[in-house]
Amino acid sequence: MKIGVVGLGYVGSVLAAVLASQGHEVFGVDVDKSKVHAFSQGRSPLFEPGLDELLSENLSRLSFSTSYDVLRGCEVVFLAVPTPTVNSEINLNYVFDAAQSVAKVTRECVLAIKSTVIPGTARRLKKLTGLKVASNPEFTREGSAVKDTLFPDRVVIGYEEKAELDLLHKVWSFVRAPIIQTTYENAELIKYASNAFLAVKLSFINEIANLCEKIPTADVDVVARGMGLDKRIGSEYLKAGLGWGGSCLPKDTSALLSFASSLGVELKVLRAAVETNRERIEHVLCLLKKLQKKSVCVLGLAFKQNTDDLRESQSLKLVARLIEEDFKVRVYDPAIKSAPSVLPAGVLCASIKDCVEECEVIVIATEWEEFSKLELPEKLVIDARRVIEPTRHNVRAIGRWQE
Ligand SMILES: NC(=O)c1ccc[n+]([C@@H]2O[C@H](COP(=O)([O-])OP(=O)(O)OC[C@H]3O[C@@H](n4cnc5c(N)ncnc54)[C@H](O)[C@@H]3O)[C@@H](O)[C@H]2O)c1
Repeated sequence: MKIGVVGLGYVGSVLAAVLASQGHEVFGVDVDKSKVHAFSQGRSPLFEPGLDELLSENLSRLSFSTSYDVLRGCEVVFLAVPTPTVNSEINLNYVFDAAQSVAKVTRECVLAIKSTVIPGTARRLKKLTGLKVASNPEFTREGSAVKDTLFPDRVVIGYEEKAELDLLHKVWSFVRAPIIQTTYENAELIKYASNAFLAVKLSFINEIANLCEKIPTADVDVVARGMGLDKRIGSEYLKAGLGWGGSCLPKDTSALLSFASSLGVELKVLRAAVETNRERIEHVLCLLKKLQKKSVCVLGLAFKQNTDDLRESQSLKLVARLIEEDFKVRVYDPAIKSAPSVLPAGVLCASIKDCVEECEVIVIATEWEEFSKLELPEKLVIDARRVIEPTRHNVRAIGRWQE
């Protein structure tokens, strides 16, 4: 098939490479010239495990451009542009602009919406552009997006006309997973409800972590393991930590809350989960204040392991709060090579060694595997991601009772 992908970020770039690996001819479009240039050379400007290899192996079937003209003749065009939340509401401008740009160059394709959008959007886009439209929400996780795209748990297709469904089935025919074919609105809501549920699950275990810290001998990791083995509960997203961040859960929970409010529905459980998440940073800050140490090294800055994505990173928020509270802070993250503009110069270190050398306390803030194997110096460690052996004498593990 000839397939277009508009928006070459974390979702679009992986999608383009995976579809090319399945033998399709893929045309990627992005407004960002430097991204297009990098992808054209078979090099990913984003850190995503396995993506560089996939791009270079399939470069003959991939072309990238800043011009929508290349989409002429495509049977399906995926939209993977941002849907940020602004003032607690979803901003659909990128999606509408991109859809209209596609409609200007081709009337023949099915426009498949990968971007996370509130229910009703696919229907509006269909009316606006006159194109055939499918809702095909994305469930991949950054850090394992290549694997997740090749081996998804399910594929969701929202459609109205058979032609829309048939083409999407053709694209995803290589996948061995259940395919949910449903209305546009169900498909759009499946995505939001899934992300909201994951956020609730994480906040729930974080509250149990707070409780464990008050109960002699209790440890949230043990409690979570005992809970997770119950098939009705499941062990994924049941790990206590510094809280959830990233490009999806914060903005999607916020968009869902305001979308539901606009319909007169108050999602109380979700609202509480957001509030609990906000408190995670203050919780760690409180631990540090009690220790009365002022020099802190934070290990991990990305919102999670195996990515360089800093969007809504809890670690970055913690660092900002520490600076605000006059702590002397140094940070290290294996995937972050240049400091984000919100951090003062000199805070980001090039190596763990530089980072930990002069500090009094180490805070593990991102779950990178290398931190779990680290030979840490004899310094106090606050393990805010539960990656190291909590019984070591110098470790203060969150969610674990300590005398
Ligand atoms: N990041 C994830 O893991 C993930 C997972 C599931 C769903 N999603 C959803 O997928 C969508 C994309 O997310 P992302 O993380 O890939 O975003 P991103 O910000 O990494 O990438 C979006 C890309 O779109 C480009 N763009 C913006 N406007 C454009 C236009 N008019 N034409 C062409 N390109 C344009 C940007 O330059 C950027 O490269 C969002 O709706 C997000 O909620 C993301």
